[in-house]
Amino acid sequence: MTETQDIWSKWLLRRRYGGDPQRMKATMEYLYPVRDKVLSHANLKENEVLLDVGCGDGLIASGALEKLASSKVIFSDISQDLLNHAQSIAKEMDVLQCCQFINAPADDLSVLDNATIDAVTTRSVLIYVSAKQQAFNEFYRVLKPGGRLSIFEPINRFAYPPPEHIFWGYDVTPVKDLARKVKEIYRRQSPDTNPMLDFDEYDLIAFAEQAGFNEIHLELHVEIKPNTERMDFETTLRTAPNPKAPTVEEAINEALTPAEAERFISCLRALVEEQHGIRRSSVAYLWAIKE
Ligand SMILES: C[S@@+](CC[C@H](N)C(=O)[O-])C[C@H]1O[C@@H](n2cnc3c(N)ncnc32)[C@H](O)[C@@H]1O
Repeated sequence: MTETQDIWSKWLLRRRYGGDPQRMKATMEYLYPVRDKVLSHANLKENEVLLDVGCGDGLIASGALEKLASSKVIFSDISQDLLNHAQSIAKEMDVLQCCQFINAPADDLSVLDNATIDAVTTRSVLIYVSAKQQAFNEFYRVLKPGGRLSIFEPINRFAYPPPEHIFWGYDVTPVKDLARKVKEIYRRQSPDTNPMLDFDEYDLIAFAEQAGFNEIHLELHVEIKPNTERMDFETTLRTAPNPKAPTVEEAINEALTPAEAERFISCLRALVEEQHGIRRSSVAYLWAIKE
């Protein structure tokens, strides 16, 4: 594995799983069907060119090559560490000759010419991009006529802000005063300017329409359900919800005194170990065609 440096690679390759291989396996079991759906909406055909924006460690882009070895795939990201990592995986898969790697932000793909790409995919990237309209304009610009855009994004606004007594889906009423302090750490950026919270599914449709796409589809999947995933508590403590956020343990240590931390952790540990959480999630698949 390539040595990791930046926040993106540290999170994607370690902090999102709390370093736990079992948790990584569970995450991939959730992600493979998502990848397949994103690729199915991209409708890539033999010898076409796919651009995966914010490719990360290559979930979507490598998946495309597994399914259609004749295609050319452009991996793009702002993390050179992740591009290097994706490149080493492509080498292991023996598909380097079909791949190109570019370091570019989603809202400035000027290294790519107009109308050169058959399909653009992106998964969980726009939540980190402030200039979302500009990103959609770039996707439209680089697509050929007949080109397809296929996106998956979480709609984080759905579960935000959680009620006062809820922390990470757990009812922490007995320590809600402490939960408030820990949540403050995660609330550093105002929801109005935080790119993870400043949009919903209707905004995604509006961005696509404004960019010029004249056929647009959106599917929303909302779920509220008991969290039955068996989570080791130490893993929970080492897990961060996104690349820009601290782990639970880091947030607790920053927000609370040692005595408060002990009280908070003992309440949370029991809830996590007894699987008393509720998961609320909303995710959107958007796909669109350039005429
Ligand atoms: C949650 S990861 C998703 C990675 C990959 N798309 C996947 O499905 O596993 C977010 C990715 O977006 C990249 N990213 C963050 N901000 C970006 C930006 N402004 N432009 C392009 N990529 C960005 C990060 O480096 C990271 O690889």
